[in-house]
Amino acid sequence: MAADTDVFARRRSLSVVADWGDDLGIDGVATREQFLPSEQIRALAECARLRRERGDFGAARIGSDETLQRREEIRGDSTCWIVPPLLTPEIPLLAEFERLRLELNIQAMLGLFELELHYAWFPPGAGYARHVDQPLGRRQRQVSVVLYLNENWTPGAGGELRIFGADEQYRDIEPVAGRLVCFLTPGREHAVLPTSSDRLSISGWFRVRG
Ligand code: OGA
Ligand code: MN
Repeated sequence: MAADTDVFARRRSLSVVADWGDDLGIDGVATREQFLPSEQIRALAECARLRRERGDFGAARIGSDETLQRREEIRGDSTCWIVPPLLTPEIPLLAEFERLRLELNIQAMLGLFELELHYAWFPPGAGYARHVDQPLGRRQRQVSVVLYLNENWTPGAGGELRIFGADEQYRDIEPVAGRLVCFLTPGREHAVLPTSSDRLSISGWFRVRG
């Protein structure tokens, strides 16, 4: 019974997600192009640069609580949480994600309660090894989102998001400016392939109350 309910819930949420853009053919994953107009994407890339210059970014770590550690060979990005005081272009960004949260809740009844969101900057050579987005034993993260800020992205420059499906199948997604990737977080394995140029994104998670 529980398993049936689960399958039903996944299909229902997939149909919401797939309505936006091209279905990737993997259950519970979808992309949407031009999530925000190009001027806004450019302004957000500028915000990330500004925040980096003033020291808001920190080396990303893996694990949780007392096991937190920097392991550059596993995860080589630096991140910066998008929290008040916000820069002006970050206000419409959060408003757009709030619209998305409500849309998902209305159509898929996911009970998403809040969003945690950060910039991520991968310098040349950095990647993020295969992983899932729920820290062990924590189920609050239910939907993962990634919005890319890379104008003039060179295809084949590495840095693709690799999303794994059943039987070791996978799809690679290029981190081109304005593209939003959205997937159901639980159990979804994915990786960032080592990039050969700077790679900038905003990634986050819609959470349920936990
Ligand atoms: C993450 C992640 C994917 C990407 O931040 O957990 O998997 O394409 N990001 O940036
Ligand atoms: Mn991830």
